[in-house]
Amino acid sequence: MDYKAYIAEKIKVDGVDASQIRGMIAVPPTREMGDYALPCFPFAKVLRKSPAMIAEELAKSIAPDSVIESVTALSGYLNFRISRFGLTSAVLKEVTEKGETYGSSTEGEGKVICIDYSSINIAKPFHIGHLLTTVIGGALYRIFNFLGYKAVGINHLGDWGTQFGKLISAYKRWGDEEKIQQGRVRELMKIYVHFHEEAEKNPALEEEARGYFKKIEEGDEECLRLFHWFRDLTLLDVQKIYDLLNIKFDSYAGESFYNDKMQPVIDRLQEKGLLKESEGAKVVDLEEHGMPPCLILKADGATLYATRDLAAAYYRKQTYDFYKCLYVVAYQQNLHFKQIFKVLELLGEDFAGDMEHVAFGMVSLASGAMSTRKGNVVFLEDVIETCIQKSRELMDERNRELENKEEVSRMVGTAAVIFGALLSSKIKDVVFDINKVTNFDGETGPYVQYTAARCASVLEKAGEFTFHPQTACHVTDAEFEVASLLASFPETVKNAAEKREPSFVTRFAVDLAQAYNKFYFECKILDAEPEIKAMRLALTKATHTVIKTALSLLGIETPQRM
Ligand code: ARG
Repeated sequence: MDYKAYIAEKIKVDGVDASQIRGMIAVPPTREMGDYALPCFPFAKVLRKSPAMIAEELAKSIAPDSVIESVTALSGYLNFRISRFGLTSAVLKEVTEKGETYGSSTEGEGKVICIDYSSINIAKPFHIGHLLTTVIGGALYRIFNFLGYKAVGINHLGDWGTQFGKLISAYKRWGDEEKIQQGRVRELMKIYVHFHEEAEKNPALEEEARGYFKKIEEGDEECLRLFHWFRDLTLLDVQKIYDLLNIKFDSYAGESFYNDKMQPVIDRLQEKGLLKESEGAKVVDLEEHGMPPCLILKADGATLYATRDLAAAYYRKQTYDFYKCLYVVAYQQNLHFKQIFKVLELLGEDFAGDMEHVAFGMVSLASGAMSTRKGNVVFLEDVIETCIQKSRELMDERNRELENKEEVSRMVGTAAVIFGALLSSKIKDVVFDINKVTNFDGETGPYVQYTAARCASVLEKAGEFTFHPQTACHVTDAEFEVASLLASFPETVKNAAEKREPSFVTRFAVDLAQAYNKFYFECKILDAEPEIKAMRLALTKATHTVIKTALSLLGIETPQRM
């Protein structure tokens, strides 16, 4: 229910319509001042009265009903108090009826949203830096689907470039098939690092690597086989992480996929007269638009990252006919995407305006949290494993009886990682602190999960119940806080999608968990009077449902017990 709209309908001011009034209604800083407030200053000029007087008169003109409990005028503001029971019973009814679909909508029906996320690089470690793109993208994917859009998850693999020539050279010289089959990316990294050490002493190696890369490009059978092997090994490695984080893709079309799809783009640029020579290379000049040129072809005819992204944009438009195409990529690539979008615009493509870079900040690991064994790289897999291990220890301290400890620690440990990464606004740089994110009492995934398990345990003890209020019962402040949060969930999800900001959902989950726990400690549930007990159980059940939905949008499971 849209309370602001409901209130706005009741206020009659000549020359101002309800939607304008709705826009003026705000939530006061404290509950004592009311649940909603309308400033009357803006009406003073038209009505030729003091704001205080306007507020007084309006307050008198509105009769309380089942939704609005009272209206009071205070220093030029009109303050509304919503009926505690009215809101609580309405939201409980709605959540009970809709269950897991509460908060979903059909606003996106018929619209496709492409989301490019994770987009890892082959034969390179999945390090902590990739965490954000993966979990932000994964959350947006689920949020958009929940709102009725058809999300298409794309892992634009970094699977092209001269490093593959180096890897082949390194493998032929020092590689051990069995070891690599076992160690996958970690082993590939080793021979890659070794290649660079050796190439310092022997520059001929670089030449050799270039030769191998050329062979891949020309389709040499052995080189292609090795290239595919490296790719498959990396994907196998990363699949473990995707499984843990509940991440899915509809397409793994990466850079190499566009090898044979770039010529039409180059032709189009040529036709439009956008390609300029610059020291042998071909570029699109963007000086007029305040940007350095966008490199399309190197002097030796090789294509670039940008060329592939242009081809990918066309391919996505043709294949999916997207409504929006999002790129969840760190802000370091701001310029790259601005250039790509501008080039598409210069090409006269209508869809240029539907492309959007969803930028986010850097993640670093709190120092001392984990030893970096190999150089400076912290493998994400190790971070997740550490969080799982830690969660297990914390649960051992609390609940020794738990049967499926293995599974629950996996759920809790991964929740710590995902929630920790998504807690603050995405553009902020994040310092990832393992001790903090796994804490059961902070603003963490485990804390929220623990609250859901608390709800589940209350419900289990209660057994069957029905909430059909005949008469209004008293609703305490603590209950009302929970109910208002529950009521705000649909708008929270909608805003999270609109702002491409999963942190709205994490924030909401923490707020709801905190409000529920306050209620839990202040109000007795199972020993309350029958009517009150039914309402409190319904509140518990609704909280459980909504926490579960909110967490699932983030890719987090909710254990029944922990
Ligand atoms: N593989 C790139 C990286 O790790 C990210 C690719 C993002 N997607 C894109 N279409 N450019 O930096």
